[in-house]
Amino acid sequence: MSFIKEAKFISADPAWGSTAPKFKKNFSISGRIKSAELQISALGVFEAFINGERVGEDVLAPGWTEYYSRLLYRSYDVKSLLSTENEITVGVGCGWYASAMMGRESLGNPALIAALLITYEDERSELLVTDESWLVAKSEVTYTDIYNGEVCDGRIVPRFDSHAQALDFNKNTLTATDGELIMEVERIQAKRLIKTPSGETVIDFGQNLTGYLEFSVNGKSGDTVEISHAEILDKDGNFYTENYRGARAKLIYTLRDGEQTYKPHYTFFGFRYIRLDSYPGVVNLENFTAIVVHSDIKRTGFLTSSNAKLNKLFDNIIWGQRGNFLDIPTDCPQRNERCGWTGDAQVFCRTANLNFNCNRFFKKWLRDLAAAQFEDGGIPRFVPHTQPSCHMASAAWGDAATVVPYEHYMAYGDKDFLKEMFPVMRGWVDYIESHSENYIWVGGNHFGDWLGLDAPFGSYKGSTDEELIATAFFYHSAELVAKAAHIIGADGSHYEELLPKIKAAFNKKYIENGKMKCDTQTAHVLAIHFGIAENKVSLGKRLVELIEDAGDTLKTGFVGTPYLLDALTEIGRADKAYTLLLQEKFPSWLYSVNQGATTIWEHWDGIREDGSLWSSSMNSFNHYAYGSVAAWVYRTAAGIRYDESAPAYKHFVLEPKPDPRLGSLSARIMTVHGEIASEWRYEDGYVRYNFTVPEGTVATVKIGEKIEELGAGKYTRCSK
Ligand code: BGC
Repeated sequence: MSFIKEAKFISADPAWGSTAPKFKKNFSISGRIKSAELQISALGVFEAFINGERVGEDVLAPGWTEYYSRLLYRSYDVKSLLSTENEITVGVGCGWYASAMMGRESLGNPALIAALLITYEDERSELLVTDESWLVAKSEVTYTDIYNGEVCDGRIVPRFDSHAQALDFNKNTLTATDGELIMEVERIQAKRLIKTPSGETVIDFGQNLTGYLEFSVNGKSGDTVEISHAEILDKDGNFYTENYRGARAKLIYTLRDGEQTYKPHYTFFGFRYIRLDSYPGVVNLENFTAIVVHSDIKRTGFLTSSNAKLNKLFDNIIWGQRGNFLDIPTDCPQRNERCGWTGDAQVFCRTANLNFNCNRFFKKWLRDLAAAQFEDGGIPRFVPHTQPSCHMASAAWGDAATVVPYEHYMAYGDKDFLKEMFPVMRGWVDYIESHSENYIWVGGNHFGDWLGLDAPFGSYKGSTDEELIATAFFYHSAELVAKAAHIIGADGSHYEELLPKIKAAFNKKYIENGKMKCDTQTAHVLAIHFGIAENKVSLGKRLVELIEDAGDTLKTGFVGTPYLLDALTEIGRADKAYTLLLQEKFPSWLYSVNQGATTIWEHWDGIREDGSLWSSSMNSFNHYAYGSVAAWVYRTAAGIRYDESAPAYKHFVLEPKPDPRLGSLSARIMTVHGEIASEWRYEDGYVRYNFTVPEGTVATVKIGEKIEELGAGKYTRCSK
């Protein structure tokens, strides 16, 4: 039952600026309590306490949504925290709402809304709500901002000497939390103390991560601790922060007397290293802990092989996801973006659903995407958006509207949710159609094959023709809408009819004498993988040539990379896909591993072979997009593939593609039915396979020409 709307939004004096206000209310209990539920939300992020005890374990609540449509509230059972006389205090930091985020200023003053429903054993009930009777004080957190960090004065004791003000905000936006809570998931002890060549005191945590630092310090009142964050050290071993761009990413703490411990309350950072710009006393590594923070998604996918570097890549992909699944799928967690870039999610969602259970996570984000969809069906570049004036829809980015819901259905089989998303999917394809001429999407504001290595000098966009990419995605998304319509029993005939028309237009415009006019790897990959090209075989040959001409390396960016190994497999060249997967020289996945990466880089050449860095304007070392290669390893190398007609792995295919250059591979995924495993190993000239098929499912196992249907159980097979 929702009762939070009985409460008022309350805020502090707007003149307090970025100081986090703390709200307080005292109340008494008049009987034996049967239940006590606190429903609470904020414009900003909150931390609530009852009688000094923290309410709930989640942090950065209520997260980031399309606030003008959906403001989530949390519900907590607080019975055990109550006694006869009580005090509830709630701190509210700026969070995403009241910090300036990419493309917009703060949306307003931080505010709180809460209602506590107490039901007594004698069936009486009382409702305590936020209103102007609550007191408010300036807290010890004197500045808080998502990009810039936090400033805290440990000497301040809040003085509740004024009353909160009521704030007008649409309460119809209040929605029960439908995503995962954001949690402190792991604590990592400081690993190494470094004196850099330029004399800085730096601490290395050994892992690029998202979260915040907790430190202890002993000093006297007025001493300060000042800490900066970084992902890497530069070529010379100095602390490097330029790639954070405008995000100051700092912690500043002023001490009271004695021993004290501090961690930020309302923000987070992406970092591996910290620099102590000021710290009183001796630096002891034991006093520094990194707390890993992300949405409480549970791990479901595991990959291991006989190749240690590949295993490190798998590990980096997992860390890339952990670092960027903080309430929304962000592009990166460190610089002044940290936005739900739609293209990045589109590219990575299949891998994401294999690695972790993202059922609730994506549902929540997709509902925000639905809320953010423009009236004409266009999809903003990132979600949450909240930039009403910026109407830009881009190919492969907006296609998150079709790809993410479809992949969600394949992974979790929730038909009602697919139905809920269907109008959004259809709206997007209608938008493309309305921008197309003779079935070619013309014009538009595209990102092209973002960060492709075949980009002309000075450009972020690879050389693949933007309209070609846009039209290929038109085809792909129309096909997904047609399939979704079939699944939910809606009329998809228009989209089915579109397919041959787009195909004909694409082949006419972009293919001449059996050759792609746009001679890039990505153009070939899309034409092959989306099934648009009529002459897959000759295009396949050319794709292989392009790779070989590049010394067996890739040149693809955000658009081509996720499907590159699939396209090679589809033309019968899984061997070439392995060549790229196992490639160690630049550019490749394992190149970054050799360079010491602990997450996935935004750029293939984030750190160049000579140790120099790609331009600081766009050089994240925690960008999950290229981690999308894991989907190929699960689905093709290990061969675990869902059957589109029996989602959530009710029926699935096991069709491993072993390669002797990789001695063994093991893939396991936890599905709603239980664990599916596919393992292979080269042994004495044979390949030995182990499979696990969970209860209630059937697998079609394909090894060479041999096909069998297997029910639940464990199986061993062998082939030459
Ligand atoms: C982001 C990307 C995003 C892109 C749009 C960048 O600044 O970090 O990951 O998709 O902009 O092209």
